[in-house]
Amino acid sequence: MNVEVTGVQFNEIQAEVLIVGTYKHPENTTNWSEFVSFYGSSLEKWLKAGDVSTDRKKLTKLPTLKEGKLQRVFFVGLGNRKTLTQDELRDIFGTVGKELVASKTTNVSIWLDSFTNEEIEIEDATYLAAEGIGLGLYQVQNYKTSSNTTDYYLDLVELVTNSDEQEILSYFEIGQVYSEAVNEARTLVNMPPNVLTATKMAEYAKELAETYDFEYEELGKAEMEELGMGAILAVNQGSTEEPKLMVLKYRANDEWNDVVGLVGKGITYDTGGYSIKTKEGMVGMKGDMGGAAAVLGAMRIIGETRPNKNVIAVIASTDNMISGNAFKPDDVITSYSGKTIEILNTDAEGRLVLADSVSYAKQQGANYIVDIATLTGGVIVALGKDKTGALSNDDAFFELFKEATAETGEFVWRMPLTESDKKRIRKSDVADLNNSPGRDGHMIFGGGFVGEFVENTPWIHLDIAGTSDASAAYDLGPKGGTGAMVRSLATLVERMSLEDSEE
Ligand code: BES
Ligand code: ZN
Ligand code: ZN
Repeated sequence: MNVEVTGVQFNEIQAEVLIVGTYKHPENTTNWSEFVSFYGSSLEKWLKAGDVSTDRKKLTKLPTLKEGKLQRVFFVGLGNRKTLTQDELRDIFGTVGKELVASKTTNVSIWLDSFTNEEIEIEDATYLAAEGIGLGLYQVQNYKTSSNTTDYYLDLVELVTNSDEQEILSYFEIGQVYSEAVNEARTLVNMPPNVLTATKMAEYAKELAETYDFEYEELGKAEMEELGMGAILAVNQGSTEEPKLMVLKYRANDEWNDVVGLVGKGITYDTGGYSIKTKEGMVGMKGDMGGAAAVLGAMRIIGETRPNKNVIAVIASTDNMISGNAFKPDDVITSYSGKTIEILNTDAEGRLVLADSVSYAKQQGANYIVDIATLTGGVIVALGKDKTGALSNDDAFFELFKEATAETGEFVWRMPLTESDKKRIRKSDVADLNNSPGRDGHMIFGGGFVGEFVENTPWIHLDIAGTSDASAAYDLGPKGGTGAMVRSLATLVERMSLEDSEE
């Protein structure tokens, strides 16, 4: 995609479609008079009559009736100028992206200044345009032999503004980096489980590492056996696919003593094992690697933006299957940390693979840990499909993450993890821990179990079982994988790097 910046001179516009934001009282829109003088006075009439809507998220398409390249204007309703927020503007740009796909528009001009207000500066509007439109453009790949989705591709984006060209371009590029990383994560989540095996995911991770010059290490079954990673191995026991533990290290500096660990659950398919899921509950479990996808997406952003913070990504991947070899309830296993675990439910497998991954991240030097997983149905019961549930053992660390999510507009809600919850996780007649203390509040037990392996390291647990895939299309994308928390994880690392440089 070609991105260019042009001044506010309509006769120079190279694209066929111009996108213009329109506030409720259009004269409140920045540079509105210039626009009207270009477009013609009839516009005011149409606005008065409601033929061009200024309602938030309403899109009106009109022809220009002028000679030249520009054929049509898409008026994007912004509502009241005083109340438009950055999150809403991102969503609005998402709907614009979708409209570009629907109308197969391959070249577009965006009149950037029209999207600004007192809270949204031109830099913000530029960034949000790139991010929102980039997310809105995403289409789910399918395997239909007679697909009616052509290979749509946006060739040209022309940014119309009088602001500094280089600065505008750099903001737009960051927005592109963020949206592309989310879209990559979405694609991983949407891939069928027979296509995206642990081995395939490891190939993907390795390629990512090569692209961005990360150190890369991969543990297979033999290495896991050698290291005694009994928890991942137990989950993999029923499978014919080899398990993989992927480790990516981004070195911001020569010292490896201040490291944030991003740990993702990469279950490529979750049947539940012998604690088998219902046939309805199983469909969709190809997405049980959403945490891994989020970590890989965040690493892509980190590779592009290169923050001043060491990062280790650890992703454990396997499917959770049934066979004569599969692990079963009543088994007692020994994790990499040495802690023993009584298996009460083979469907509580995510916490098991995370346990070994977190221990490995710590062993490799992580002194901050964020784990992310499609861990429990409980989080959906508690918070719905649009909120990520969290646990943390460190208020300041969580606060920093909250700030990151305020910037990205991804909703996160912290749940309590009490001593009595921990007691229930530690209750077993035969082992140190049990993997399923009960269904009451089980989002907390899932994350709390991972916390047993994190111990005193500052830690945030993110349960994206609800947010990792959308059951219906939404402003920023289609039904399916959402790439939840990709942007927030990368923004957290960015903020940690800024904090370090302030010290
Ligand atoms: N992968 C599931 C969680 C899940 C459920 C993700 C729905 C996405 C949508 C996880 O491994 C699981 O099965 N969790 C169990 C835990 C229970 C056995 C304690 C659950 O949520 O029922
Ligand atoms: Zn499960
Ligand atoms: Zn699972």
